[in-house]
Amino acid sequence: MLQDFSQYILDIAENSLKADANIVDIDIVEDTKDKTLTLTVADNGKGMDEKEVLALHNPFYTTRTERRVGLGIPFLKYAAELCGGSLEILSEKGKGTTIRASFKSDCIDCPPMGEIADTLVALVVGWPDRDFSFRYAFDGKSFSVNTKEIIEVLEDRRLLAKPETALWLRRYLKENIETLRSGGSECIAEDNQS
Ligand SMILES: Nc1ncnc2c1ncn2[C@@H]1O[C@H](COP(=O)(O)OP(=O)(O)O)[C@@H](O)[C@H]1O
Ligand SMILES: [Mg+2]
Repeated sequence: MLQDFSQYILDIAENSLKADANIVDIDIVEDTKDKTLTLTVADNGKGMDEKEVLALHNPFYTTRTERRVGLGIPFLKYAAELCGGSLEILSEKGKGTTIRASFKSDCIDCPPMGEIADTLVALVVGWPDRDFSFRYAFDGKSFSVNTKEIIEVLEDRRLLAKPETALWLRRYLKENIETLRSGGSECIAEDNQS
C-alpha cells in the first residue's frame, strides 16, 4: 500500500472532524509478542445508521460532494485485510463512530508507522476548536496525552495552535513514542498500564 499508518490516522480522524465530532480519541496498540497492531479512532460526531455503515464498505460511497469517490475507509479496510487483520465500524446515529483497524505486524505489507507525532500535531493545530486524545501502547506499556489537559495548563485554548505549543507537543509525542518502542520505561509521562 502507498500509505503509511500515520496517513490512515489523518484520513480517519478527518472523517470524524467532518462529521462534526468535537472529541476524537486516537488509540494505537502495538504488541510485538502477538505481532498485532491496532488502530482505534472513536468520535462523538453525527454517526451513521446501519445502511450508511454497510455502504461504507463500498469504495464508491461518500457524502462529500467535491470529489466523486470516497476511498479513505475502503483503503484502510483493504490494507488491514491484506495483513491478516480486519476493519470494524461501530456507529450510532447522533452518538458517534468508532473505527478499529487491526493488522498482523509481521505481514510484509504492514504499513510503516510514518510520522505519527506530525500527524497528531497537524490535527491539533488544524482543528484547534476540537479535543483530541491520543494513547499509544507498546507491549503493555502506554502513554497518553489529551488537549483538555494541555489547555488546563495553557489556560487558553487559542494557545493550542501556536507554533511553540505545536513544537513542544511534537517533541513530547516523539520522545514518548520512541521511549516506548525502545523498550525503556523512563520518562514515560503517565498511565503505565500493563
Ligand atoms: N467518523 C464518521 N462519522 C460519520 N460519518 C462518517 C465517518 N467516517 C466516514 N463517514 C461517512 O463515510 C463516507 C466515506 O468516508 P471515506 O471512505 O473516508 O471517504 P470520504 O471521506 O472521501 O468521503 C463519508 O463521506 C461519511 O459520509
Ligand atoms: Mg475520508
